[in-house]
Amino acid sequence: MAGYRIVEPEALEVLGTEVFVALGTPGDVGREVAAHLVRANLAGHDSHGAIRIPQYATMIAQGTIRPASRPTITRERGAAMLVDAGDGFGQFATAFALERGMERAADLGAAVVTLRRANHIGRVGDYTEKAARRGYVAEVTVGAAGPGIGGAAPFGGAARFLGTNPWSLGVPTGGEPVVVDFATTVVAEGKVRVARAKREPLPPGCIVDKAGQASTDPEDFYAGGMLLPFGGHKGYGLALAAALFGGLAAIGESDPSMAGAAAPPTDKGEGDRIAGVFMLVVDPGAFGDREAYTAAVARVTASLKRVPTAPGVPEVLLPGEPEARTRVQRQREGIALPDDTWEAIAQVASGAGVAMPAARPS
Ligand SMILES: NC(=O)c1ccc[n+]([C@@H]2O[C@H](COP(=O)([O-])OP(=O)(O)OC[C@H]3O[C@@H](n4cnc5c(N)ncnc54)[C@H](O)[C@@H]3O)[C@@H](O)[C@H]2O)c1
Repeated sequence: MAGYRIVEPEALEVLGTEVFVALGTPGDVGREVAAHLVRANLAGHDSHGAIRIPQYATMIAQGTIRPASRPTITRERGAAMLVDAGDGFGQFATAFALERGMERAADLGAAVVTLRRANHIGRVGDYTEKAARRGYVAEVTVGAAGPGIGGAAPFGGAARFLGTNPWSLGVPTGGEPVVVDFATTVVAEGKVRVARAKREPLPPGCIVDKAGQASTDPEDFYAGGMLLPFGGHKGYGLALAAALFGGLAAIGESDPSMAGAAAPPTDKGEGDRIAGVFMLVVDPGAFGDREAYTAAVARVTASLKRVPTAPGVPEVLLPGEPEARTRVQRQREGIALPDDTWEAIAQVASGAGVAMPAARPS
């Protein structure tokens, strides 16, 4: 069983910022990316937290992430807007796109923003949660599809064709928002990464090996295996739709961004790949009294909490509730990173001339 280091969230954010800045990222961009990673750790989604620092450092070194790139609005019509991330950091570009989407929704009642060339955009629920806290109903999906793309097989297929293509939906309640946020595979690729870092097996039914045989060994995935869609044909349908919606951002792109994909494409053929980020932001005020809507949502969610529980289940939870609780706990107790993850970050930090913060072993 691997050991852990406990680090304070603020110290981890400073560390991430310093590493990204040392690698050529402007301060505001580096801070946004590091803060996003720490918020993912705080929410309990370690797969999208500081574990990504070494991965992003590698992507910068390889030229996949252009750290100084800033997003630009390249097309606008009515409620629709296309943002080009310029191969920069996805978290910064998506936060930028969301801000523009909220501005436009406040103005027009609703906005649709698509984003291309964004690299990895992180914990997708971060964006819908932010929008919901500001009173908007929001949807964010990111997807990629094509031969050899990503890590997931289509339903009934035995080859990689889809990213983990997550969906996230956020709804304001006046308190903690409802945040639905998950990959369309049984587990996100990042969860395989975390299991590998912890040297733990995956639950059955998450992956198959490269021959299509059931496996629980994370190494089998990295040796050419595949993630399976959740809910069979249903998760597969949502995964494909995320890629096709995101593809609105990729019209005219001969090499669409691989945002969200788990691995680089093995097939360089053009025209049979599609990818991008799709974002819908709705102002409830466009449909009537904004406060009345939020109050109605709050009544329904409070009533939902009173649903009798199934045998052996302590409590019915709302989507977003596990993350809110973990956040409270980790703000208090600090963030535990596996030794492997800590060591990998330390190596990158040392190469960038950045000192590691204090951390206590557990
Ligand atoms: N950027 C990308 O390309 C990318 C790709 C895949 C996944 N991701 C991110 O990975 C993260 C993890 O994805 P995942 O598929 O492992 O998510 P998951 O299986 O942990 O599911 C999380 C969702 O389920 C809800 N939930 C969990 N337990 C619940 C319960 N008992 N009752 C009610 N709701 C409950 C959570 O509140 C949340 O909405 C997500 O934040 C996702 O955005 C990002």
